[in-house]
Amino acid sequence: MLLGDGTRAVHAGLPAPVPGRPFLPGPVPAAPYHLDPVAGPQPGVDGYGRTDNATYRALETAIGELEGGECVVFASGMAAVTAVLLTTLRGGDTLVLPSDGYYLTRVFAAEHLPERGVTVLTAPTSGPYPAFDGVRLLLLETPSNPGLDVCDLAGLAAAAHARGGLVAVDNTTPTPLGQRPLDHGADFSVASGTKALTGHSDLLLGYVCTRDPQLAAAIRTWRARTGAVPGPFEAWLAHRSLGTLDLRLSRQSANAAAVADVLAGHPAVRSVRWPGRPEDPAYGLAKRQMRRVPGVVTFTLADKAAVDRFLDASELVFAATSFGGLHTSADRRAQWGDAAPEGLVRFSCGIEDTADLVADLRRALDAARV
Ligand SMILES: Cc1ncc(COP(=O)(O)O)c(C=O)c1O
Repeated sequence: MLLGDGTRAVHAGLPAPVPGRPFLPGPVPAAPYHLDPVAGPQPGVDGYGRTDNATYRALETAIGELEGGECVVFASGMAAVTAVLLTTLRGGDTLVLPSDGYYLTRVFAAEHLPERGVTVLTAPTSGPYPAFDGVRLLLLETPSNPGLDVCDLAGLAAAAHARGGLVAVDNTTPTPLGQRPLDHGADFSVASGTKALTGHSDLLLGYVCTRDPQLAAAIRTWRARTGAVPGPFEAWLAHRSLGTLDLRLSRQSANAAAVADVLAGHPAVRSVRWPGRPEDPAYGLAKRQMRRVPGVVTFTLADKAAVDRFLDASELVFAATSFGGLHTSADRRAQWGDAAPEGLVRFSCGIEDTADLVADLRRALDAARV
């Protein structure tokens, strides 16, 4: 039976019904577990919390179902991204990563990979890409954060594979309901679960999904060695939040469509990107490749002062540096050292009523213009 997104999200990773048991079992806070005093550790029996936890396992089942691969959860998105980089790259390898994607991935690569003998190349998400000869790992991020450019996953994955490389896709912004990179040929889908996946702005989480059992085993071993596991309460909260993913994304996307239209027609706005708008350069590709477009819209005001006025005048938009949450928030990216124009705002639509959000946005944009 082919199930819809809402059904898949709300049932993901739940155990078979047992009378008297809850739908989603509670968190299992445990460091050591009881061992058999004579037989000692046994395969399939939980021994220690860094490797064994029923709460992580249930969440991994849930995310794995949605991404279509085996999932390994991490303490944060950066823990997941660095696990992919450091398990796949060796001295003499080349990495290609986005010049316009999440800036800390670039910072990490520049700070830690050259000293390990890895050559780091960057390319804008919309291309052009370097030749893939000698490229061990191609890391893509689509839509890119914060510019929201889109790249052709299947085409780039085929080109990198033809030269013997692996392909990882940062799937944070779309979530697995918006895009399934493994279906497009990627070897890894890696993401921050801190954003829309869990969406309540109350936890940090990351994950890596793959269909290759050897890659999954390497990632799992890396996590066990580095200890980058999420706490059981976070894992449980994340699983609980996953049930409403379809509903949250639907409202966020609807809000983004309305917000992008208002932005595009307002004189204070110099540029706007949202791949769900037919006028957006990434629209055609996004429509073919994505299952839905997320609720993040990026726009540019004149300068920092205009953004300050905008945020000050808004009554609904929180100034905050995350996205994908229930509450609409806005982040002037240049304030973090991201190489973005001073007036660039990453605007994350929440689940507020569209009419309220649009009215607030209009007021705030009018104030930004003064
Ligand atoms: C695209 C992308 N990847 C990875 C990360 C890192 O995730 P985390 O903050 O959970 O470590 C972020 C965080 O903003 C992100 O936007």
